[in-house]
Amino acid sequence: MPIVVSSIHSKGGVGKSTVALSFADALHQDDSSVLVLDTDPQGTASEWVQAQEGDGPMVAGAPSAEKLEHELERLGASYDAVVIDGSAQLKGSTGSIIRVSDLVLIPIQPSPADIWSTESIVELIEDRQKVVGQPAAGFVLNCVVAGTNVAEDVTEILDEFDLPVLGRFHRRVAFVEALVTGETPLTYKPRGKAAGEIEDLYSASLDALEAHYTAQS
Ligand SMILES: Nc1ncnc2c1ncn2[C@@H]1O[C@H](COP(=O)(O)OP(=O)(O)OP(=O)(O)O)[C@@H](O)[C@H]1O
Ligand SMILES: [Mg+2]
Repeated sequence: MPIVVSSIHSKGGVGKSTVALSFADALHQDDSSVLVLDTDPQGTASEWVQAQEGDGPMVAGAPSAEKLEHELERLGASYDAVVIDGSAQLKGSTGSIIRVSDLVLIPIQPSPADIWSTESIVELIEDRQKVVGQPAAGFVLNCVVAGTNVAEDVTEILDEFDLPVLGRFHRRVAFVEALVTGETPLTYKPRGKAAGEIEDLYSASLDALEAHYTAQS
């Protein structure tokens, strides 16, 4: 099986695709062969890859929830990693995605409304962790606005969950501009702050995965 990382939330527009594509590109820049599975009927990731001019992560449509596990086994022969870009519209597939994931990233915008709607996903993840010890999981605070304390306040609320905050993306035009050419800030503005935030998320996520596996062995 490839390493499977998913970006999921039951709410639309929280940054699932931004986090999924950023994470996939971080894996790609780290010399992993990576495929993004686009579960979204709007096809953000599929549109994004069509705009790609250079090389980057590959993108394919996601199989149905029932076929997901089997398909991932098959993909393991060709890819080191698979990143699943979740969809708010396909709530029924959330359980299947959690079951096949090594790491679940939960993007949330720093607002209590986003956190309240996160509880059901966290419960699903924790139920799965109790049974099989995985997946590793954590939050990505997205669209944080500089100069406000909201992110800190929200981090305090998030403390009531057992999952860590693995990354913080500020609201930055680089995340949007990079999409135009099928890129992420990592290649669009490699020295920019958005690229740094992706690198920090990537490194914290690898640490979380490693800690998770160490705890299990
Ligand atoms: N950190 C950020 N800074 C600036 N713009 C952002 C940031 N994160 C996301 N956006 C923009 O906000 C919009 C929603 O983000 P995104 O598409 O990643 O969310 P999503 O959860 O995948 O949405 P959907 O539920 O429609 O699939 C997009 O236009 C995206 O470019
Ligand atoms: Mg999306």
